[in-house]
Amino acid sequence: MGRTLFLALGIFLTIACSVTGLVILPNWQFQGLKPVTKKDGVKYPMPYFGDNHKGRAEYISHGCIYCHSQQVRMKGYGADIRRGWGTRRSVPRDYIYDYPHQLGTMRTGPDLANIGARQPSRDWHSLHLYDPQITSPGSVMPRFYYLFDEVKQGESPRAGAIKVPDGYPNRGSVVAIVPNERGEQLIAYLKWLNQSFPLPEAQQ
Ligand code: HEC
Repeated sequence: MGRTLFLALGIFLTIACSVTGLVILPNWQFQGLKPVTKKDGVKYPMPYFGDNHKGRAEYISHGCIYCHSQQVRMKGYGADIRRGWGTRRSVPRDYIYDYPHQLGTMRTGPDLANIGARQPSRDWHSLHLYDPQITSPGSVMPRFYYLFDEVKQGESPRAGAIKVPDGYPNRGSVVAIVPNERGEQLIAYLKWLNQSFPLPEAQQ
């Protein structure tokens, strides 16, 4: 009986310490985090809205997280800042509107926490998502061609179309592409990702 009690107490303490350390303390520490406002009135972070909100759902449903993280490690913990993935480390405040968060654990591709600052071009994102081989030959990233309408040779031009480069080997009769609704939303989300706002708790 004495042993059973000892064992039960051990199990209880293990679970209690884990819940306290991993759930209760972090919640208590971070639940009061609010956006900060600069002198000019600009607030950061801002809640997702409209297209970038819907694009976030596309990002989740396409499983981009299985190859991309969204967290910049501080200097001394990796080469993230040297690689140009951000100007400062990521901190909890960056994620107060991020639910479910997309921190990720895999880095088959580059970190995307600041892709909106690094690559703000709709045309670049369109060509890259349509076929990564156009912008990044040799890339292992899959094609997301179904997020685009194709404009073939002889078809009338369309507003907002992006020309597919002549030298692209799989070009076939496709002369241009136009992001469809889901494509525009995903691109809006990618352009929104930007943690370059200076936060007092992330000076490095
Ligand atoms: C199988 C792994 C894989 C998946 C899944 C994947 N990517 Fe990538 N991604 C990569 C690799 C590798 C690169 C680097 C080469 C390149 O630019 O294509 C990359 C590059 C990128 C870049 C350019 C980053 C930069 O710094 O230039 C963006 C933006 C991007 N991916 C977005 C996405 C989005 C959005 C999704 C989901 C719709 C996605 N990726 C899914 C592997 C992946």
